[in-house]
Amino acid sequence: MRIAIVSDIHANLAAFESVLAHARSVGYDRMVCLGDVVGYGPDPVECVDLVREHCDWTLLGNHDFAAVYEPTNFNPSAAKAVFWTRAQTIEGEWLRRHIAALQQARDEDRISDTEFLDKKCGAEVEQRERVDFMFRISPRRILLDRYICVHASPSRPVNEYLFPTDVENNTKRLERNFGLLTLPGADGERPVSAIVGHTHCPGFILETPPDPVEVARVEAELAAQTAREQEGGAFRSPLLESAISRIPRNYEFESFVVGRDSWTPNDDEMPAGCRFILNPGSVGQPRDGDPRACYAILEVGENGARDRFTFHRVAYDIARTQSRLRAFAAEGAPLVEWLWERLEKGQ
Ligand SMILES: [Fe+2]
Repeated sequence: MRIAIVSDIHANLAAFESVLAHARSVGYDRMVCLGDVVGYGPDPVECVDLVREHCDWTLLGNHDFAAVYEPTNFNPSAAKAVFWTRAQTIEGEWLRRHIAALQQARDEDRISDTEFLDKKCGAEVEQRERVDFMFRISPRRILLDRYICVHASPSRPVNEYLFPTDVENNTKRLERNFGLLTLPGADGERPVSAIVGHTHCPGFILETPPDPVEVARVEAELAAQTAREQEGGAFRSPLLESAISRIPRNYEFESFVVGRDSWTPNDDEMPAGCRFILNPGSVGQPRDGDPRACYAILEVGENGARDRFTFHRVAYDIARTQSRLRAFAAEGAPLVEWLWERLEKGQ
């Protein structure tokens, strides 16, 4: 089973089309989306329609939430882009433009009256289904095979950023989030990994194994206590039970090196038995310095084989997206220059 994982499309149709073509060329069985289908980019309607068509499920991103409900913690220009996105999608601005173009085609005898009515009715039905889809993007957390998937972070699934730099200066945030990565198993809780979007930085935060000397000490203590229990029913301290899980961990960020076309982390980079929080990068607005679209494919291991993730970088027609943004801005849309400038810089 090969699962294509896309995230943070951000209404960038040119980028998403190129990713879909690339995913088809390398092959996949299912596609899932970690959220932020809309926001910033010029083609929210087309991207929502492609996600509806291709993705098995979609998580709620902060920009999707903002478009349907309200922008939370957005800077002023991002908030204006949210309201423009809402007008295009939910409030039907795109549909009005589309019908006006059909009317013009009919007036110029390029389509007949019957064709006009058919296409107009079809577009109106599509609009209802599109809005219904956007209103129903609600999952904050989904289990994909053995991975917990959220848009942002396990502890705050819609809004918290897990930055690569957290491995240096915010390990408390990582401890809190890794602490939530367990699922019920046959022998109690079992640790699992997570897949998130939101920062647009492809790679994964790895929880390194606890210090082996400390593990050996705790295990020896546990063994001695168990032996005492067997001899005479001594009280087993719950503190000792959780001692191994409380041994301090370190974190590392393994980054998809800028310039590479694809990357399958090997066993040294992603050691067996270590938990991680993986980010497939952003389709529509990469921010790691490589302007190419990014996504990942999870190959689920069969018959005891390890799962493998492969990140892919996909070149797309950046100028096409930029000129769409410029054209809307020239018509008065509140889309600022930075939105098209950042695309070519991957920022
Ligand atoms: Fe995003």
